[in-house]
Amino acid sequence: MQEVKLGIVGLGNVGSSTLAILAENGEQIERKLGYKLKVVSVCSRSVHTKSIPAALGDVIKTADWRDVVTHPDVQIVAELVGGTTVAREIVDAAIANGKSVVTANKELMAASGPEIWDRAIQAGINVAMEASVCGGIPIHAVLREGISGDRIQALYGILNGTCNYILTEIEKRGAPMAAMIEEAQRLGYAEADPSADVDGYDARSKLVLLAALAFGEKITPSDIFMEGIRRITPLDFQYARQLKHTIRLLCGGRKTADGLILFVRPALIPTSTILAGVQGPYNAVWVKGMFGEDTFYYGWGAGHPTGVAVVSDLMRVAREIRGGSPERVSPFAHERLGENKPVSVRLQRRAYYLRFRVNDRAGIIARLAGILASKSIGLEAVLQEPCDTKHDLPFVITTEQTTEQSIAEALEEMAQLDFMTEAPLALPMETAL
Ligand code: HSE
Repeated sequence: MQEVKLGIVGLGNVGSSTLAILAENGEQIERKLGYKLKVVSVCSRSVHTKSIPAALGDVIKTADWRDVVTHPDVQIVAELVGGTTVAREIVDAAIANGKSVVTANKELMAASGPEIWDRAIQAGINVAMEASVCGGIPIHAVLREGISGDRIQALYGILNGTCNYILTEIEKRGAPMAAMIEEAQRLGYAEADPSADVDGYDARSKLVLLAALAFGEKITPSDIFMEGIRRITPLDFQYARQLKHTIRLLCGGRKTADGLILFVRPALIPTSTILAGVQGPYNAVWVKGMFGEDTFYYGWGAGHPTGVAVVSDLMRVAREIRGGSPERVSPFAHERLGENKPVSVRLQRRAYYLRFRVNDRAGIIARLAGILASKSIGLEAVLQEPCDTKHDLPFVITTEQTTEQSIAEALEEMAQLDFMTEAPLALPMETAL
């Protein structure tokens, strides 16, 4: 039976893993499909320094992606370049040339996914994007197929492996944030500029996609409240432990009476929850359905497993090409239905962990309690580890359930107080996971 022919654009980590898997697992892939996936052409700016696995046979090497997307034999283009500029041109040109597209590009799909899918459907070709979120977890397939009959109430995830590595190492070793960011860079988890990971942008793009698939809404990055992990200290883990909680960069979407609340932020989560057990650079997604209740998915977020996601997408699209069944419905097709309209995180009700650093003197707690009382925020506990730096004394107040709006107003007033050595840190306590 004839082969399905592929063009691979981008030979970084994901592209190289994809080629390695296609080469090393080629026989099994052929048995599963009933025909071969043949790599016709590969493209990279530095293609002549790249070695292509011999098992792939003759492969055209080019430094110009246009050669791949216009090659008459190529049926599926894998866009593994990343970013939103050249990648967008590659995807657009592939669709214009009638090629199906497999992409690992969360940023592009979060920014332009709905338009790309609409154009692909008009062109009668397929798009697959499993590798764009949580590389090692087939979460798109779960949301689009596995549990698509359910009505999703909430989705929580640990979607950034770099942040999870950093936070769990701080937790284990009591090491400071800056040192753990450097270590993550040395290990190749974080980029030279770690901002995309530690400030939440990477996780936010992923949540855009997962929330769109889970809730059937058009979601844009600006719908999602985002806060990074840079302010978390070893001391916060000590206090969290006393409260039987830990801290994770939590990505979430949940339905409330007001609408859909979406966030990427460090949060306290009970140590008894399954998400708290997610250690190191792993990802996890927890979905709560109205009918199917809780399901949980766990795996690597990046690296070699992302190559598995790309190859599996190539296989899926190859089957669809062979079966003559291009996608007819975009996963982004739903206009805002109202029911799941994103609303401000300020509407959420949660208990909060407030961590202060102050230049110690008498009356500080009374002053802070007064501000909380003026916003009708009930105080739950005050925690203070022994400390001999009275000029920079950390302590924690936890509150009863209140709105994020009230907490934000209280924090604004507190930040003005002359004994504060830094702005107070507020983390929601996600006890209702
Ligand atoms: N930098 C991402 C992470 C992996 O740390 O999870 C690619 O999305």
